[in-house]
Amino acid sequence: MKTEEAIEFVESRIAPKKRREDDSEYRKTFSEVFDDSTVMAIYGLMSRGYIDIVDFPISTGKEGNVFRGIDKKGDNIAIKIYRTSTSNFRKMALYIEGDPRFKGITKDRRRLVHRWAAKEYNNLERMRGVGIRVPAPIVQRENILVMEYIGTEERPAPMLKDGDFDPEKAYEFTVDAMRKAYKEARLVHGDVSEYNILVDGDDFVLIDVAQAVHLKHPSAEELLIRDAKNVARYFGKLGIKTDKEKILKEVKG
Ligand SMILES: Nc1ncnc2c1ncn2[C@@H]1O[C@H](COP(=O)(O)OP(=O)(O)OP(=O)(O)O)[C@@H](O)[C@H]1O
Ligand SMILES: [Mg+2]
Repeated sequence: MKTEEAIEFVESRIAPKKRREDDSEYRKTFSEVFDDSTVMAIYGLMSRGYIDIVDFPISTGKEGNVFRGIDKKGDNIAIKIYRTSTSNFRKMALYIEGDPRFKGITKDRRRLVHRWAAKEYNNLERMRGVGIRVPAPIVQRENILVMEYIGTEERPAPMLKDGDFDPEKAYEFTVDAMRKAYKEARLVHGDVSEYNILVDGDDFVLIDVAQAVHLKHPSAEELLIRDAKNVARYFGKLGIKTDKEKILKEVKG
């Protein structure tokens, strides 16, 4: 298939078309996210059945947009697409370069973003491997990460900051996830917060793991301390008796 035909095919499967045409704000984000090479990568994933429809945006973040999608079997999926034009490349490079798994410097921005998505896939796999509840990674290609969708048919799971939950249980989940990551996966998440934990019924799911670094990364310790501080502050406000030192002790055991 020719590029133009592929682009047309993919665009016909990104809903809703009407909104795209009518809403200038939407159109702007749309053209930022779906540049030609991203569309071609989606085309590749569509022809292999990983994606059938890109349904609607769940979130428009600093570096990436997350969409609810549907795969060939009809199951819901989450599709995270990192923007190759307006990302924080300096931050990405810093997190990637010190990580022994991702050695080598790249000055090519597009390739850097691809590596960032690959790093998120790898981190999800590693965390899942040690029993941390994260979205199951499905496939990654270029700047696109397809993963398990967390939520119901009606709506995606809310973030901790917007959800209804038992603070004690959420706290336990968070510290346990940090401990398993550190002790077993040898990773530090690096951005644990009420924004990056979803409430899925009575359960919790840790997300947004692209920046998670290996313990050998020169900033690992500093990031762990920052995570502990943020977690202590947040759960402290919810009435949990904890502090940074206590969390660090539990994580490092
Ligand atoms: N697997 C998923 N299932 C359902 N919703 C998700 C999933 N992953 C992400 N989301 C939603 O999308 C939002 C943004 O995702 P995430 O935190 O991974 O990206 P981000 O904060 O935009 O990251 P970055 O700034 O690094 O691009 C989340 O807060 C959550 O609401
Ligand atoms: Mg986030």
